[in-house]
Amino acid sequence: MTISLFYFLMHIAINLLINFCNLWYNFNNIKVYYGGEMLSQNIKYVGVNDHEIDLFEGQYIVHNGMAYNSYLILDQKVAVIDSVDARFCDEWLANIKGKLGQNTVDYIVVQHMEPDHSGSIEHFMQAYPHAKIVSNARAFAMMKNYFGTDFAERKVVVTEGDTLSLGEHTLTFVMAPMVHWPEVMVSFESATGTLFSADAFGKFGALDVEEDWACEARRYYFGIVGKYGVQAQALLKKASALDVKTICPLHGPILQDNLGYYLNLYNVWSTYGVESEGVVIAYTSVYGNTKKAVELLEQELKVAGCPKVVVNDLARCDMAEAVEDAFRYGKIVFATTTYNGEVFPFMREFIATLVEHNFQNKQVAFIENGSWAPMATKVMKGMLEKCKNLTPCQMEVKILSAVNEQNKCQIKTLAQELVK
Ligand code: FEO
Repeated sequence: MTISLFYFLMHIAINLLINFCNLWYNFNNIKVYYGGEMLSQNIKYVGVNDHEIDLFEGQYIVHNGMAYNSYLILDQKVAVIDSVDARFCDEWLANIKGKLGQNTVDYIVVQHMEPDHSGSIEHFMQAYPHAKIVSNARAFAMMKNYFGTDFAERKVVVTEGDTLSLGEHTLTFVMAPMVHWPEVMVSFESATGTLFSADAFGKFGALDVEEDWACEARRYYFGIVGKYGVQAQALLKKASALDVKTICPLHGPILQDNLGYYLNLYNVWSTYGVESEGVVIAYTSVYGNTKKAVELLEQELKVAGCPKVVVNDLARCDMAEAVEDAFRYGKIVFATTTYNGEVFPFMREFIATLVEHNFQNKQVAFIENGSWAPMATKVMKGMLEKCKNLTPCQMEVKILSAVNEQNKCQIKTLAQELVK
C-alpha cells in the first residue's frame, strides 16, 4: 500500500515536471508573426519565408532570411497579387490552394517582374489555366524576355488609374516606375483601404522572425530603392490621395497600425533628409594608425557633445549597413589611407556605392593618411563631386604615417566644427 502510494506520487511529480518543462520550452520558443494569416475576412496572406538564402539579390546579407509576400483576394472573382521566388513555387501554390476553398483563381496581378516576385508566374499559369494575368505593357514585355511568352491570349493590360472589379473589392492600379524597376505598379483596394505597395515599404527578414522594422527597412530602402528618391516621392504623393488603412508590401510585415510613422520615414529617406542627429565615421586602416585617428575623433566628438557617433570599419562591417548609416545621419567623416596612388579599396567601393545611390545633402569631412605622397582626400573629393549639396568641413586632417601632436589638434578642431 505504502509502495503504491509512493509510485502514485512519483508519477504525479514526474508528470508535473514534464508539463513544466514543456511550458518553459514553448514560452521560450514563441515566434512573432509579423505577416498575419488573414488581413481581412477576404484578403489572405499566401506568401512564403526563405531561410535558405545567403545573399538577397546576390549581394545583401540577410541574417533573418527574406519573405516573398503574396496575397489572395476572395470575392465573386478571385485574384492573387504577385507570385514568389521560383524556389518556393510549390509552397506558394499550396498556400493558395489551402485558402481557396471551393473557389478557383480568376486573375493574377503582376506588380513587379523581378524574379523574387515573378519566378512562379509560369507555373501558376499552368496550375490555373483559366486565370487571366493582369499587368502593364512594360511588365508584359519583360515576361517575353523571361518566359518567352507574354501570355497574349490571357493577358489584361492596365494603365494608370484602371480598375478591376472583383465584386465587393475593386483594385485601382497606380504606376510606380523605378520603385524599383520601370514596370512596377501598385494596387489600391478601395473597399478595405489596402495598398499593395510592391517593393515600397518592404524590408529584409522573414516574417517568422521578430526584429526592428526601421533598421532592416532602411538598409533595404537605401540598398535597393535609394537611388530613386524622386520616384519614391512621386509614389508617396499618389498614395497621399488614397485612404490607405493597410500597406501590404512584397517583403516584410503588413503595416496596419501607426501608418504615419512608416510614411514619415519613407518621406525622409526619399528626400535624402536627416533621420537622426549625429556623425558617421567611415574608415579603413591598414596598420591601425588611421584607426587611432578615428578613435581620437570619436572621443573628441563625444566631448564636444555630439549626440551620436557611429563608427564603421569598411573592411569588416556589412557595407550595406555602412551605406544605410551614411544616409541616415547628416554628417559623415571619410578616413582612409592612400593606396596605389588612390584610396584603400573598401573606401573606393563605399564612396562609389554612395554616389551610385544619389548620396546628397550632407556635411562631409576628410581624414587622409599617406607615408610619402598622401592622395586620399583629393581622390575622395573627386569621387564625390557628382553628389549634390555636400558641404565640406574646413578642417582636413592629413596624417603622415602616424598621428602626431598637430594631428591631435586638427582632430579636436574638426570635432568642434562638426558639432557646431
Ligand atoms: Fe523584391 Fe525589386 O524585388
